Formats: sequence, structure tokens, C-alpha cells
Amino acid sequence: MKVLVTGGAGYIGSVVAAELAAAGAKPIVVDNLSAGHRPAPPQEAPFIEGEIGDAELLAETIRKNEVEAVIHLAASCLVGDSISDPAAYYRNNVSNGLSLLETMRAAGVRRIVFSSSAAVYGNARRIPIDEDAPTEPINPYGETKLIFERALHWYDRAYDFRFASLRYFNAAGATGDRGEDHDPETHLIPRVLKVALGQAEAIDVFGADYETDDGTCVRDYVHVADLARAHILALQALDRGSRTFNLGGGSGASVRQVIETAREVTGHPIPERLVDRRPGDPPALVASFNRINHELGWKPERSDLRPILESAWEWQRAHPEGYNDD
Ligand SMILES: NC(=O)c1ccc[n+]([C@@H]2O[C@H](COP(=O)([O-])OP(=O)(O)OC[C@H]3O[C@@H](n4cnc5c(N)ncnc54)[C@H](O)[C@@H]3O)[C@@H](O)[C@H]2O)c1
Repeated sequence: MKVLVTGGAGYIGSVVAAELAAAGAKPIVVDNLSAGHRPAPPQEAPFIEGEIGDAELLAETIRKNEVEAVIHLAASCLVGDSISDPAAYYRNNVSNGLSLLETMRAAGVRRIVFSSSAAVYGNARRIPIDEDAPTEPINPYGETKLIFERALHWYDRAYDFRFASLRYFNAAGATGDRGEDHDPETHLIPRVLKVALGQAEAIDVFGADYETDDGTCVRDYVHVADLARAHILALQALDRGSRTFNLGGGSGASVRQVIETAREVTGHPIPERLVDRRPGDPPALVASFNRINHELGWKPERSDLRPILESAWEWQRAHPEGYNDD
């Protein structure tokens, strides 16, 4: 199957594109390299540098490559940025996303797997969070993901689109050639490992007085290879109907547990610095992945904290400057 992967030069998209190629499908990558890296996607995938909102370019790409389905990962994804500049998030995640849907509709391509986010749930009232939990985003990033999910729902009803909305929790870890290289890096695991590499003095802990076992926030980490595998399963199941699935490792880890495991894995003391809470950080976010487990047989295989940290550490040690493609 020929699959257009938007955002395929990004952290998760490049692993998804590689997984598609390994599964015998043909990934075609579109990325504007605003946050992605040219060396990240697999070599065999045609690479088109451009905007998902460029309808002409996308139409031509779909036609030339006989695209049959789209995995849509391209997005702006920094929560803090989305609060200070919501317009940019509505423009990219909503307007550009809708332009992509319209280009697909005009081309008769009606199958899409969408990278949604746990951010659609906001402050979850119950843990673990299942897909029927209320969707009450608390920032524009989560809001724009939810708007796109809703558009998919109505495109299904009116135009026979088939979609899978995959609500990722915290993607983490690395595969042999591909890892996390964001600038700025806001994710805990790469930040902790940067301290171990000597690129930062200490890791900031944003509050240690939450109602959790050790007082620090609990998050659900899912290995990027487990995530990528779920995309293939979701793509194969699209003809059975549109679905929304959580993707998480299923057990939470606190900030302190992450730091402690990173100390064990790296052998580095990794000093920490306790700072104020960040506004809007819920104490705990943990997924139930029962639905995708029952319906598609997916379960996390590499998402324990240790293999996540070991793989991320291996990648970061081999690529201390990331992809170094600036
Ligand atoms: N990383 C996580 O933990 C996480 C969690 C939940 C959801 N997600 C979602 O997963 C997707 C991928 O996340 P990631 O961590 O790999 O982010 P990333 O920033 O590494 O990848 C996104 C890619 O999209 C590209 N892009 C952005 N806007 C574009 C546009 N208009 N046209 C073309 N390309 C564009 C960027 O250059 C980048 O390569 C995003 O949609 C994100 O919202 C990520």
C-alpha cells in the first residue's frame, strides 16, 4: 500500500515511515522540516519538502505516487507555545489539516490515521483514562487535536472517510537509527539524558507536592516502536470502520522514577533541581489501552521504563548533537 506520511521527518513520523517500509508498504514523506530532520525518514521513501497546507503540491504528490491512505502526523506540538500563540496552532493543526482533508477528498483518498493526543482529555477525572472519558482540553494544542478528530467524524458520516484517531500519551525511546531531537526539547526523558551527557547541569522537577506516591507528576510513556506498530494495525483495520484508540504503556511513571531509572541506566548522578509547578500540569495521566488491545490485538512490548531509557540513552550517546543537520 502507498501511504503518505505527513510529518515523516519528525520523531514519531520517521519511525512510522520505517515501520511501513519494513512491513512492505510504500511510505511517501511530506514534511516542511520546521521541526523535522532530513536524514530521519527511511532512504527508500520519496521525500517531498513542503507544507501540508499547499493543496497543489499535495494533490500532485498524491496523484504521482498513487497514494491510497494517509498517516497524518504533521502538527505543531508544544503545549506552552500553543498557549502563548494559539493562532499558529489553529493555523497549522486545524486550517492546514483541513486543507489536507480537502485535498484527499478531491483525490478520492479516504483513509487516514491521525496522530491525536492525550491532551484532548485535559485534567482527567479518573485514572486510567479510557476513550469514553470526557474530552475537555485545557490548552489550544489539545483543542486543535480535538477539532481535527471531530472533523474526521463528520467526514466519515458525509464522505465515507475511514479514520483511526490515535491518542498517544507520552512517546519515548528510540529505535536503532531514529530518536528524539527537538529544539527546544520539552520532553522529560531526553532532557534527563542531556544532563547525563553533560549538556545541562541539572534536571528541573516541576513540583514535588502533587497527590502522587512520591509527590511528582505521573505520566504514561509508550515506546515509539510500539506506537509505530499500532499505526500499521490501525491502517489495516480501517476498512472495518472508523475508531479512536488510546496508545499508552498502561502504567504510569513519576518524574522521580524516570530520573532514578535514568541514573541506573546511565551510571550518572543526574542532579535535580526542584522548581515551581507549571500551571496546567495534571498530577497523573495514565492510559487504558484495553480498546486497541481487544480490537486490534495491540499491546505495548517495549514500553517499560527501562527499555525506553536504555534505547533513548543509546541513541543520545550515539547522536549527542541529534541529527546534526542544521
Ligand atoms: N511526542 C509525543 O509524545 C506526542 C504525544 C501525543 C501526540 N503527538 C503527536 O504526534 C505527532 C508527531 O509528534 P512528534 O513528537 O514526532 O513531533 P515532531 O515535531 O518531531 O514531528 C512533527 C513533524 O511535522 C512537521 N510539520 C509540522 N507542520 C508541518 C506542516 N504544516 N507541513 C509539513 N510538515 C509539518 C515537522 O517538521 C515535524 O517533522 C504530532 O502530531 C503530535 O502532536 C506526539
